[in-house]
Amino acid sequence: MAVKGGAPARVLRVRAFAKVNLGLEVLGLRQDGYHELRTIFQTIDLHDDVVIHLRPRALDVECDHPLVPGDEGNLALRAALELRRHARVTRGARIEIAKRIPVGGGLGGGSSDAAAVLLALDRLWGVGLGPAGLQPLARRLGADVPFFLTGGTALGLGRGDEVYPLWTQVRAHLVIVAPDRPVSTSAVFARVDQSLTPRENSNTIFRFVSSDLEGLRAFPVLTNDLERAALEEAPDLAPQVRRIRGILVRGGAVLASLSGSGSSFFGLYDDARRARGAQSVLRDAGFEVLRARTVTLDQYRGFWARSLRGLRDARVSNQARSRHHGDHGRQGHPGGGRKAQGLRVDRV
Ligand code: C5P
Repeated sequence: MAVKGGAPARVLRVRAFAKVNLGLEVLGLRQDGYHELRTIFQTIDLHDDVVIHLRPRALDVECDHPLVPGDEGNLALRAALELRRHARVTRGARIEIAKRIPVGGGLGGGSSDAAAVLLALDRLWGVGLGPAGLQPLARRLGADVPFFLTGGTALGLGRGDEVYPLWTQVRAHLVIVAPDRPVSTSAVFARVDQSLTPRENSNTIFRFVSSDLEGLRAFPVLTNDLERAALEEAPDLAPQVRRIRGILVRGGAVLASLSGSGSSFFGLYDDARRARGAQSVLRDAGFEVLRARTVTLDQYRGFWARSLRGLRDARVSNQARSRHHGDHGRQGHPGGGRKAQGLRVDRV
């Protein structure tokens, strides 16, 4: 990649955004051991910082979170290895991840880091596959990784890896409670098998997608089929979830749901004031609370276009490191300095 003066870019700093599942239906067990899903993915502006330094050959990863491995157990490193093998390049990289997205919280942090590494190294190594060409690699890495090549509000089918951006994009505020209690996705899916009944007739996701989303009426149809299994897997969370849901709903949430296989629970609000209100009630009740806004498809694309355009400071800035989760809602938003907007559905 050429930058001013013609020197090749050596460092790229990008954000890896989190996601929530606005709804999730499990339709059945597939031949490959995975589950057939219908889900609505939504990117949010809570993010990890990923800094990638070009290296002649060595490829390694470093993360500031104790639960994130520094070896091939790290999905971001596997993403880099997969791209290097696929594109037959010999170059290397050092990947630094500053974690802000809770680990094991159903917010897609590991998958998003992996997709960010694919998009960034595709550019830094001059491979040039682009998001469409990276899809097959992303699918091999994990069911949620392909979504992060697209972002915004999207329908996920198959294992969740067939991703279709929705014509209508959701702009809303979120209040997220992420208990310090990782839940294993595969364990939750295994529990679903014990209680799974055939679901061909289930249609809440399709009702949501085909509704015009007018006046927020569509959100209450959405549910998360993994919630029961997640609370069986982590029974200690059940009483907390009851309390959290009650507070979110009384605070005016149009949707209150577990994200993915948990353990994060979120409320969706059409208005920043209500979101702040729910956040403070939850804090007073002793919960760790994050606040976020949705990132639409246009905002996600705009962010990546800007990030890949030029060099960024190599260091994860002190300012970024000192940010803490509770302040998230006040941080920069990929949409720029826009004033807080309510829940709006935008045509793409
Ligand atoms: O693809 P990924 O490694 O992120 O998935 C983690 C686990 O979640 C899988 O090993 C599988 O047990 C379960 N899963 C599933 N069906 C899906 C997605 C994930 O059973 N559609």
